[in-house]
Amino acid sequence: MSDAGAVIPPLTGIVTGGTRGIGLGLAAWLLRRGASVAATYRRDESEAENARRVLAECLSPQAGLLVLQGDAGNPDEVDRQYQRVRRELGPVNVLVNNAGLMPRGNLETITDSIWRETIRVNLDSAFYWTSRVVPDMKAAGFGRIVNISSIAARGGGVIGPHYAASKAGMIGLTRYAARELGPAGITVNAIAPAFIGDAGVFRDWNPDQKARLQEQVFTPRIGRVEDVVRAFAYLIDSPFVTGVTLDVNGGAFMI
Ligand SMILES: NC(=O)c1ccc[n+]([C@@H]2O[C@H](COP(=O)([O-])OP(=O)(O)OC[C@H]3O[C@@H](n4cnc5c(N)ncnc54)[C@H](OP(=O)(O)O)[C@@H]3O)[C@@H](O)[C@H]2O)c1
Repeated sequence: MSDAGAVIPPLTGIVTGGTRGIGLGLAAWLLRRGASVAATYRRDESEAENARRVLAECLSPQAGLLVLQGDAGNPDEVDRQYQRVRRELGPVNVLVNNAGLMPRGNLETITDSIWRETIRVNLDSAFYWTSRVVPDMKAAGFGRIVNISSIAARGGGVIGPHYAASKAGMIGLTRYAARELGPAGITVNAIAPAFIGDAGVFRDWNPDQKARLQEQVFTPRIGRVEDVVRAFAYLIDSPFVTGVTLDVNGGAFMI
C-alpha cells in the first residue's frame, strides 16, 4: 500500500486569476501557510500592483512570490508562464484554476465570439494548466488541483449559457482528472461558490443590492472570500477526498 499524496510536502502553488477576489484570498492563504506562490492575471495592472503588496505581506522567509501577467486561455502564454514559475519557484504541486470571465447574456444575446471567449478563458485554461503541471506532480507523487466552478454548473444560474456550460465543463474535467491522477497521489476537486459578496461583480454592489443576494441563501449572511478559503484549506489537507464539488453558497444549490 502506497502513502503517495498523504504526506504534505512544502507547497508551491499557481493560482490563475490570483490578483483579486477569490484567487487573491487563496493565494494569500497558501503564502501564509509557508508556500511559494505564482498568482496570474490578464489585464488589470493596478489590481496586480495591489496584489503584489497584499501577497508580499503574507510571504514566509524561505518562500517565493511571483505575480505574472498572461492569458490563462492561451496555451503559449501558459507554457511561457509555467517555464518561468519552474525556473524561479521550482516544480508546482498545487494548481488552482480560478481565472474566469462572467459576461452576462442569454441564448439570444450571446454572440458566437462571447461564447468562445468564455469557454476559452474559463474552461480551456483549466485544461492547459492542468496538462502542464501534471508531469511534475506525478514525479513528486503529490499534487492538489482545485477548480473553481460555480453554482451555475448545477442550476444554470443567471449569467448565461456560456458561463453555465464553462463551469459545468470544469466539473467533468475535475472528475475525469481525479480518476486518472488519483493513483499518483494527486487529488482533483472543484469548489462551486455563489454570492461571494467581496469578489467579482458583487464587490462593488451597494448594501441595497447585496440585501437582494441575502434572499437567495439560507444562512444569516451572504458569502465571503474567507468561506471559499476554508473549503480550499480542507481540500489541500485531505488526501482521501477527490473528484468532489464542494458547494460554498449558503445552501443556494438546493433551490
Ligand atoms: N464571486 C462569486 O460570487 C463567484 C461565484 C461563483 C463562481 N465564481 C468563480 O470564481 C472565480 C473567481 O471569481 P471572482 O469573483 O474572484 O472574480 P474577479 O474578482 O473578477 O477576479 C477574476 C480574476 O481572474 C483574472 N483573469 C480574468 N481573465 C483571465 C485570463 N484570461 N487569464 C488570467 N487571469 C484572468 C482577473 O485578472 P484581470 O482582470 O487582470 O485579467 C482576476 O484576477 C471565477 O472563475 C468565477 O467564475 C465566483
